[in-house]
Amino acid sequence: MANALPGEADTTVFLDGAFLPLSQARVHPLDRGFIYGDAVYEVIPAYGGHYLRLDAHLARLEHSLTEVRIGNPYPRAQWNHLLTELLDRHGGGDASIYLQVSRGVAPRDHAFPDCPPTVFIMPRPLHPVPAKQVDGGLKAICREDIRWHWCQIKSTSLQGAVLLRQQALDLGADEVILHRDRWVTEGAATNVFAVISGSVVTPPPSHWLLQGITRNLVLELAAQIDLPVAERPLGLEELQGADEIWLSSSTKEVLAVTQLDATLVGNGRPGPAWRRVWNAYQAFKADLRAQ
Ligand code: PDD
Repeated sequence: MANALPGEADTTVFLDGAFLPLSQARVHPLDRGFIYGDAVYEVIPAYGGHYLRLDAHLARLEHSLTEVRIGNPYPRAQWNHLLTELLDRHGGGDASIYLQVSRGVAPRDHAFPDCPPTVFIMPRPLHPVPAKQVDGGLKAICREDIRWHWCQIKSTSLQGAVLLRQQALDLGADEVILHRDRWVTEGAATNVFAVISGSVVTPPPSHWLLQGITRNLVLELAAQIDLPVAERPLGLEELQGADEIWLSSSTKEVLAVTQLDATLVGNGRPGPAWRRVWNAYQAFKADLRAQ
């Protein structure tokens, strides 16, 4: 495959019922995922050959499929089996699994076709988060959330998120924090937390944001180490005045934001509450690896 990255071409992937090398995987150009972005996806991390919160990821996948009315191709047990087999074939270790289900291949027409969904699953190596990002934190910018209104669905229609993330990258930042009418929603591919008066605040689940599996784990870990947590609407001005800002996702874990637009967050270093939660997250991963 011309565009395969060096080293990834021989990765074993799963496409429509078969395991095969990525270099041999072919999707039809009339696939609705390609033509319409008519697909949903998951990114599932694994440590030491053990998936992190696989059931929660599969529950969210089932939820996304239901919301977009794509028939679930496999019962939960078979998803488990497929994902375990793919991770084994990948050689265990740390990995992030990309899983996509599209509405299938059909002549181009907006109406739902009568065809089986396309299932594609691909393991990728999951490298440790760079020490520079862990110890130095991230830079973020704030932008109006111009995405669609069904952000609770993990849809592959990500053009809004791609354009917004690129605005951050073009300005030398790492992530864009989004808001609607000055209410914080989430990042382009992360959930957002703010530490305000000692409390960890994150917007509540709604159709304005994806309910991250990492987000939920971070809330659990924060509560376990006795940090007060509050799921409540978070105003942009509150975020701008927060003592700490964190971002979470399956691949970034939980990272501090140390600069928001032109302003340093706190003293410009990752804060003490973040450090405690990050330590708890690392301990959680270590327990998973030891299983
Ligand atoms: N994205 N919000 C959005 C819009 C996301 O795309 C993601 C993850 C998250 C965090 O969800 P989780 O903690 O379950 O990874 C929140 C993945 C990693 C991606 O698109 O690559």
